[in-house]
Amino acid sequence: MASDHNIHSGFSTRAIHFGYNPADHQGALVPPIHTSATYAFPDAAYGGRCFAGTESGYFYSRVSNPTLALLEARLASLEEGVGAVVFGSGMGAITATLWSMLEQGDEVLADLTLYGCTFSFLNHGLTRFGVTVRHIDLTDPQVLAQAIGPKTRVVYFESPSNPNMRLIDIAAISCVAHAAGVKVVVDNTYCTPYLQQPLVLGADVSVHSMTKYLGGHGDLMAGAAIFADPELAMRVRVFGLKDMTGAVMSSQDAHLVMRGLKTLTLRMDRHCQSAQKVAELLQSHPATEHVYFPGLPSFPQYELAKRQMRLFGGMVAFELKGGMAAGIRFMDALQLVTRAVSLGDAETLAQHPASMTHATYTPEERAAHGISEGLVRLSVGLEDPQDILADIAQALDTAAKA
Ligand SMILES: Cc1ncc(COP(=O)(O)O)c(C=O)c1O
Repeated sequence: MASDHNIHSGFSTRAIHFGYNPADHQGALVPPIHTSATYAFPDAAYGGRCFAGTESGYFYSRVSNPTLALLEARLASLEEGVGAVVFGSGMGAITATLWSMLEQGDEVLADLTLYGCTFSFLNHGLTRFGVTVRHIDLTDPQVLAQAIGPKTRVVYFESPSNPNMRLIDIAAISCVAHAAGVKVVVDNTYCTPYLQQPLVLGADVSVHSMTKYLGGHGDLMAGAAIFADPELAMRVRVFGLKDMTGAVMSSQDAHLVMRGLKTLTLRMDRHCQSAQKVAELLQSHPATEHVYFPGLPSFPQYELAKRQMRLFGGMVAFELKGGMAAGIRFMDALQLVTRAVSLGDAETLAQHPASMTHATYTPEERAAHGISEGLVRLSVGLEDPQDILADIAQALDTAAKA
């Protein structure tokens, strides 16, 4: 199991070193990748104890694996959790966590705006198994206080939300939820543990798509859930992961995520700086109608962003005068910026949520959940900022020409 010899180091140091000592691995600087699916038992009784949970050894890689365990220890350290479980995708993390926390008859209170597949899992998945899902405006903790009922078990939200950048006050929502004995699950994908620490702010579980900034290079699919409660972490591992989803992560991908983590703070600093410049350009351009970026003083939740986030993130959303048609003209005029879904990669990516990541909502649902048809979402990458800005400026000029 991972050692904790650098538990008190700073964030970047732990992102590089936490839980690993080369001296324990023949001096290997990079942790070995354990590919074994199964593990030899010294005797039958030992195997039985592993399965009964009274022995802590490895026995099958769908449940735990030494390479994954190191990544889990590192993530828990970075987000100040007591434990973490990694998965083969962000949706694996979200579904395994919620399957483990809910039963037939329970209720989830979710924010209005969620990533499309999470919305689909809640409304078209969990509801088929007797779980009630209600979407409420979690930007106002009083709305939550009034909505919580005897069946409410989980409050679920993203902050910033995908795609329209709504922020939720994690500390205030956790306070209201906990007063009623309700657990709080936050999707922290947009921020990573570097920009925002939901568990420190009071949440119970933080989930991530590590496909995004944590992996950082667009070359893997992965997810994680980080916990404040060790019993819940164990339940998600031995039930949500092992039995309900089987959404296990490969050890090669765990190695790649650990490689990505080594540069996380450097990459995030650059993503955030460039996104700020992009947001300012968008705001100053006559073609834009609205710009949604937490680092703009005009952003309605700017004060909350400063309180809750270390930096304002690398994601920007905006609407053009001329709505969807202008948005399509903008996207098609891009030359450096790549038209693609996903986010958090080195490449700057542009996509149209209504027809892509949020097509799981009906048009009526998008209207009710605050996702406008003309919204364009940018994941600002790591190219030279002047090149990103030049491409966006010329595409805005093109979009403005009707
Ligand atoms: C906020 C958010 N959560 C979860 C997911 C799902 O992650 P994955 O694609 O790794 O399953 C995504 C994917 O885009 C996302 O943007």
